[in-house]
This record gives sequence, structure tokens and C-alpha cells, in this order.
Amino acid sequence: MKILVATEKPFAAAAVNGIREICTADGHEVVLLEKYESKDRLIEAVADADALIVRSDKVTPEVIEAAGRLKIVVRAGAGYDNISLDACTERGIVVMNTPGQNSNAVAELALAMMIYASRNCFTPGTGREILGKRIGIHAYGNVGRLVAAKAKALGMEVTAFDPFVEAEKMEADGVVPAESLEKMYSECDFISLHIPATPQTRGSVGYDLLTKMPSGGCLVNTARKEVINEPELIKALTDRQDLKYVTDIAADCQAELAEKFGKRVFATPKKMGAETAEANMNAGLAAARQIAEYFRSGCTRFQVNAK
Ligand code: 3PG
Repeated sequence: MKILVATEKPFAAAAVNGIREICTADGHEVVLLEKYESKDRLIEAVADADALIVRSDKVTPEVIEAAGRLKIVVRAGAGYDNISLDACTERGIVVMNTPGQNSNAVAELALAMMIYASRNCFTPGTGREILGKRIGIHAYGNVGRLVAAKAKALGMEVTAFDPFVEAEKMEADGVVPAESLEKMYSECDFISLHIPATPQTRGSVGYDLLTKMPSGGCLVNTARKEVINEPELIKALTDRQDLKYVTDIAADCQAELAEKFGKRVFATPKKMGAETAEANMNAGLAAARQIAEYFRSGCTRFQVNAK
């Protein structure tokens, strides 16, 4: 089988070698498409691929239509909002993700961004410590749980909101389950976002939640830009001169944010949450193993689209 690894943001070389080893051991061929600049390159490359490994690359209905032989797409990572699940399901193409494999890298970045924001983006001036501060984890999944554990180790008070996770599970981790999202925002100095981008969450973090935050509140976004209501973010930052917003996924209005709010906002130049050698290795190799296993036994563990 031909396995296309299409990564606009490439994996580390060691991860690519690992993917190759796993796939060739089962007699598959690996083709690499990295740093491509137009979607036409992906459309061209996918034409004779049996399997596809991507990161945040957009797998649109147009891509799927061009992929006449495609049987499986694996998103080497957690969020699969970049993949047209319906188009894949219609064609009987299996879509999987690799949950948990890059979570630690993202969690470490969330903590780093919090400290960066608290220390004036590493410029002169008096900052704040995070010791003893309250952090609210908005969604207690793989990344949220790791952020919680690390925040606790740094001496923070940790609370979390997640309607899909039992309170007992949070309590067992020493995390206080929030009664409501609104209450969590109103009580936390930091909110760390870990919700996926879904029709339910898109634009769901806006003025009402943000302005509930206490004085000096800071929103940390290592999830998705789509979950933020950007016009309302601007309004919240305008009305509340004490609030901060730091993100690993630049807002569409990032230039306006930077111009209006200066050091109260920060965005990494390119999404880098999962950009560690370890995360590349973990997610890339997991993707390769899942594909090899699928072709070997038909195993569809980690499938995320309808069968
Ligand atoms: C994910 O959903 O796994 C993260 O957002 C990482 O995305 P990336 O592989 O594009 O860096």
C-alpha cells in the first residue's frame, strides 16, 4: 500500500524515519509531502495513496474526491476538525486520531504561556507569580488533565469543568470540579482552554465568560482559535483593561489585537503546542502503527468517523 505523509508543518526527521520503518516492515511504501504551499499539491499527491497521515492539514471534500484509492486517514494528533468526516464516511474511508500522544507537549506549552503572560512577556517590569493562583481547566481531557497535574505541582489551586467527565474522576486527581462554567470563569485567575472545535463549541468563549474573570484574569488558548468569539474577545479586552489573552493559535484578528492591546495579548508565530521531538515521535509512530494494524487486521480502534 502507498502511505502518504502530508505535513505542511513537518515532523522531526527522526519521526519520519520511524514512520518509514514501521510501514516498510509491513511491505508498504511511504511517500512524503512536506511544507507544501498550495492545496493542489496535496490533491495531486493523494491521487494514488491508500493511506494518509496528516497533522493540521486540511482534508477537505475536494481532497477526498481526488483520493480514489484512499482507505484510511490518520490525524497524527488529537483534534480532527481539519478533516471532512462526512466526505470520508460517504466513501467508506476510516478516519482515526492518535489521542494522548502529543498531550504532554501541549500541556507544557500551556503552562509556559501562563508564566510568560504573568511575567510581562519577558520584558522589564513587575510581574506576578502563579504560586497560589487559581486555574480553571476548561475541558478535562488528555491535555486538561496534564495541565491540572502540572499546575498542582507548581502550587496552584486547580478546578475543572467538563460535562463529559465524572466529578469523582477529577476529585481523585485532587482537582475541584466546577459547579458551572460561569462559576469557574468567575473564580479563576487563569483559564486554560482544552475544548475541541465542534459545532457546539465554536465561538462559545466570548464576552460574558471573559468578563466574569477576576481582576488580572488571563485566558490561555492552546486548543483552537475557532472556539473564541473574536469580536467579543476584542470587546472584553477593551472594557476590561486588566484581562490578558495568550494563544498558540493566532486569532484571525491577531493584528488588531496586537495593535489595540499590546503586551496584554500574545500569539505564537506558528502553532507549536505539539512541536516537540517527543510529541512528533509519539504521534507519528502511533499513526503509522494504527495504519499498519488496520491493513493487517482491519482494527478500527481510534476511529472517529461514523462507520
Ligand atoms: C492536535 O490537535 O493534536 C494539536 O492541535 C497539534 O496539532 P499539530 O499536529 O498541527 O501541531
